[in-house]
Amino acid sequence: MNIKINNKIYEAKENETVLDVCKREGIRIPTLCGFEGLPREGVCRLCLVEMGGRLMTSCTAKVSEGLEVITENEKIEKARRINLELLWADHAGKCATCKKNQMCELQNLALEYKIENFHFIPRKGEITGAEELDLIKDNWSRVVVENENPCISRNSELCIECRRCINVCPEKKFGFNYRGNSVVVGTPYEKVLDCSFCGKCAEACPTGALTDQNDYVKIVDDLDNLEKFSVAVLDLGIEEKILKVIGKISPEKDLNKLLINLGFEKIVKLGKENLKIEFVKNIKDEYSRTKKINQQDIVIFFISSRIYEKAKKDKNLDYVLSEREVARLVRDKEKIKEGKIKM
Ligand code: SF4
Ligand code: SF4
Ligand code: FES
Repeated sequence: MNIKINNKIYEAKENETVLDVCKREGIRIPTLCGFEGLPREGVCRLCLVEMGGRLMTSCTAKVSEGLEVITENEKIEKARRINLELLWADHAGKCATCKKNQMCELQNLALEYKIENFHFIPRKGEITGAEELDLIKDNWSRVVVENENPCISRNSELCIECRRCINVCPEKKFGFNYRGNSVVVGTPYEKVLDCSFCGKCAEACPTGALTDQNDYVKIVDDLDNLEKFSVAVLDLGIEEKILKVIGKISPEKDLNKLLINLGFEKIVKLGKENLKIEFVKNIKDEYSRTKKINQQDIVIFFISSRIYEKAKKDKNLDYVLSEREVARLVRDKEKIKEGKIKM
């Protein structure tokens, strides 16, 4: 069938959404709740387009013969901006300490839309001191910060209720708690997350609400320690994933260069033939024997999406780092280079 987008005719297939066609044809539409392979639920309302004079979410609108769609005009931009500002309002001043700073989809959209003010936050004089206190208490009373499980760090303060984690988790570990204005996304009865730790939720979360759990200060200390011999063991297929995440913060395409710059002395790549975790465990023995380095001075960083290896706490793997954690190290190294932070 044919549909018209911005007065140009495009071919569309039965059951496709307007967003599907726009993506295929390279027509930019902002999205936040949508994620590859997940059901489209029209939650964030950033993908609004105009059809027959009405604003509709393009991720849920199915195509039909002769459909006419406008993807950009003043009305659409204004509505998208208001929806984005509402989401952004909850994140006032939180970026500087967020693990996802510079790698956050919400922050990227706020930058794209040049959002400078928090319009939906009451200003001095607009509410009384008591009301302000109630508001703060109400906001904080529902915040859940959970770092007790070994792999996923949770901070509901940064959640935008996009539902990606609810839909992506194969074990259905997330859902909505409370009701109405008080609704928060979390585990049932806000129990400590206990699952197989596949990491899909941390990969899908667009903000810093679900991130990788680690001892970041210790990791940086070990990488900077000249007496330590840091080995990066790259899991099969992880290189593309790292470069994809890093692409948002650094133009560097040479992963070896980036890793050496982070403080790694040796980079080992796992191939199909040595994919078993036992191979990684033997690296320490091998280096201590061949390079005459004390076992305790060799630090093995297993860089892999298999974050469940963290939960096993194997003494031969000093750290398990996901592609997102490597990107965070690169981000902070860039800032040190620019003189913006000291570590
Ligand atoms: S790590 Fe995997 S199984 Fe655990 S909550 Fe996240 S998506 Fe679900
Ligand atoms: S925790 Fe992350 S993925 Fe889950 S609803 Fe909140 S923002 Fe979305
Ligand atoms: S992407 Fe369509 S509503 Fe979020």
